[in-house]
Amino acid sequence: MGTVEPGDDDRSRRLLRLFMGPWLARAAAAACELGVVDRIGAGSASCAEIAADLDLHPDHLLRLLRLLAGLDLVREERDRFELTPTGRLLRTEDPSSLRDLGLLYTSDLFLGAWGGLAAAVRTGDQAFRAVHGRDVFSHLADHPDDAALFHAGMSVGSSFAAGLPDAVDLSAARRVVDVGGGDGSRLAEVLRAHPHLHGVLFERPDVLPAAERRLAPYVAEGRCTAIGGDFLREVPAGGDVYVLCRVLHNWDDASCRALLANCRAAMRPDGRLLVVERVIPDGAHPWLSLAFDVQMMVMTAGRERTAAEYDALLRPAGLHTREIRDLAAEMRVLVAAPA
Ligand SMILES: C[S@@+](CC[C@H](N)C(=O)[O-])C[C@H]1O[C@@H](n2cnc3c(N)ncnc32)[C@H](O)[C@@H]1O
Repeated sequence: MGTVEPGDDDRSRRLLRLFMGPWLARAAAAACELGVVDRIGAGSASCAEIAADLDLHPDHLLRLLRLLAGLDLVREERDRFELTPTGRLLRTEDPSSLRDLGLLYTSDLFLGAWGGLAAAVRTGDQAFRAVHGRDVFSHLADHPDDAALFHAGMSVGSSFAAGLPDAVDLSAARRVVDVGGGDGSRLAEVLRAHPHLHGVLFERPDVLPAAERRLAPYVAEGRCTAIGGDFLREVPAGGDVYVLCRVLHNWDDASCRALLANCRAAMRPDGRLLVVERVIPDGAHPWLSLAFDVQMMVMTAGRERTAAEYDALLRPAGLHTREIRDLAAEMRVLVAAPA
């Protein structure tokens, strides 16, 4: 047995919190899945009421609720539970809800791939491919439940780029092409904020039905088109603003160069390309961006990059960085234009 040094308890607790992170995250996700969070909602409820309404085991529920209280997600007062301000972000109905992101990050789809991290560091292979047998986007095409989970989580994640329509002057633009735009959540925001714009969503054919549902009001108004295809082959021509939001970080440098060359070939000479990513600041080590960098290593052949690394990818395509603006949660928009 080693001796106990001053501060050991503090250090042990910090490590225990780290090791137990997946347990704690799954506890929060379980409370969402079971409907406990939404049942408490904006009011308060006793454990007995929640258990009766949702047909749950009262003692097990109480133990789960007490852990959530320890995590500052619920508050217990005179045997009634209410959500804290942080806990409210788990509600389905909250306008800033992170619920679907929590369900995705704690899913077997993601955590199963993280189980392959050590092997990936040893071999240089993609953990997701080693664990699930194929690349993530092919897997999603054949697993509709995983795809629904993935795109719902991505839609929440893209809310960190909600400042995009204001961060960049789009007043003179006409046609915005969102390349790899997922379920269309962010393009819908851009179209809502700028009624003069026409939007084009370009996605894998298997993702189009979800995007068409999300963009239906704008399609009905004649302001939006959803097109299926492979952006490594070509992207729709004629836009004056192209958006690549959390797309380049999924790909290795060679694929990024091919995609950027396709965007440059498609865009008007006075067009702009908006790269929305967690651009890693030089010399800084923000844990959030670095966690996403390892997440990219686990899930894809991609990575998070610095501004200089993005610029080095842009230049062979005849593009260069004009400016970089900050968005939320370490996201930034890098505005590129033909050199
Ligand atoms: C990480 S998601 C980002 C989605 C969206 N841009 C956002 O920020 O929420 C990457 C997207 O790229 C799409 N994608 C992957 N490979 C593609 C390809 N070869 N052609 C078109 N889209 C592709 C995926 O379907 C997925 O929706």
